[in-house]
Amino acid sequence: MYLKRLEIANLRNYSSQVIESDIFFNVFSGANAQGKTNLLEAIFLSCTGKSFRTSRESEIISWQKEFSYINSLIETNTRQVEVRVELLPGKKRIEVNGVLTRGYPQGWPGVVLFKPEDLVLVKGSPLERRRFLDLEFGPFFPQYGHILGQYNKVLLQRNNLLREIKDNKEKSSLQVWNEQLCQYGARLLSLRIEIFKVLSPLIRDIHHDLTDAREDLDIRYLSTLKINIPASVDDIYNQFIKGLQEVEEEEIKRSQTLIGPHRDDFSLYINNRDARIYGSQGQQRTIVLTLKISQILQWYKEIGEYPILLLDDVFFELDENRRRALLKRVGGLVQTFVTTTGENKITPRDNFTVKKFLVRAGRIVETEEE
Ligand SMILES: Nc1ncnc2c1ncn2[C@@H]1O[C@H](COP(=O)(O)OP(=O)(O)OP(=O)(O)O)[C@@H](O)[C@H]1O
Ligand SMILES: [Mg+2]
Repeated sequence: MYLKRLEIANLRNYSSQVIESDIFFNVFSGANAQGKTNLLEAIFLSCTGKSFRTSRESEIISWQKEFSYINSLIETNTRQVEVRVELLPGKKRIEVNGVLTRGYPQGWPGVVLFKPEDLVLVKGSPLERRRFLDLEFGPFFPQYGHILGQYNKVLLQRNNLLREIKDNKEKSSLQVWNEQLCQYGARLLSLRIEIFKVLSPLIRDIHHDLTDAREDLDIRYLSTLKINIPASVDDIYNQFIKGLQEVEEEEIKRSQTLIGPHRDDFSLYINNRDARIYGSQGQQRTIVLTLKISQILQWYKEIGEYPILLLDDVFFELDENRRRALLKRVGGLVQTFVTTTGENKITPRDNFTVKKFLVRAGRIVETEEE
């Protein structure tokens, strides 16, 4: 699918702007603070109904303006869709082909974003990696979202109970919550193991491509449960129950569930070394790119369409070989939007075209300048 036309009004530093984008590759150049990320935010908003920067959507409305809107024309394999997102203070309206909707169907329209902060996927806390699994890759697998939701619900209630036990409530009811937590937890973890079976060879292959086979990328699941992967749902369940008994006292003391999938993590290894510790900035960036491409390919496998790819300040930071390898993978298949403050050299190929734009003080003009 691709974005053909975008119209934005009163959105951040844009008052009124229309762009007709290239179906393959779009470059937005400009100095700092001119509106490049704001534009990607608008595209993301029209694809997902949400911002990637803020949950306080009134911030997006231009200062001193009452409302903003984004109209976009998106073309898929089978149809043309007009999406209108309107933001008013404290209120949002989304229309698809003129019909008011409450939310998009899951996974549509597809967009994958890589912003500089995403390096936390490699460098940051386990929370960031779980977020990738839970929100970005997991939803491709049937039941994942549902089981995760149930697990989190039980977890919350169990933590509340731990607090009450600490305040002298008797602990007989803990057993019931343990069983529920372990039931959902075992299914969740077992799904994550399934996901890793798909993800491991996929990212290895993509990363090979991006690095001319110089780097072997490995992903390893780190569980807080003492299990040997692969493990069956029953094995995980039994181990989880046993583990909870071992940490019970500590859990009551801290009113927190200390083991389980909500505390798990994964590590990324380049040539057998932990990239979080030893990876260079460029290597870490390439790993994140690999993860994003894996999402794109998985998307295609599930939905039969490629999502739109947004690269904020990322593309021209890659060295030339990696850029070329990326284009070999996605060029001509995935509509891509990149931003840059400096270099913007890119030559169209047989299978894809390029449009270049200059962004200055909330105005965008098409340009041919290098
Ligand atoms: N609600 C708003 N109304 C008006 N202007 C806003 C609003 N929100 C943000 N801005 C302004 O938009 C400007 C451009 O922001 P943006 O993040 O798009 O810059 P950028 O071109 O991506 O810069 P950089 O290269 O530094 O990332 C900022 O200077 C900011 O002050
Ligand atoms: Mg920016």
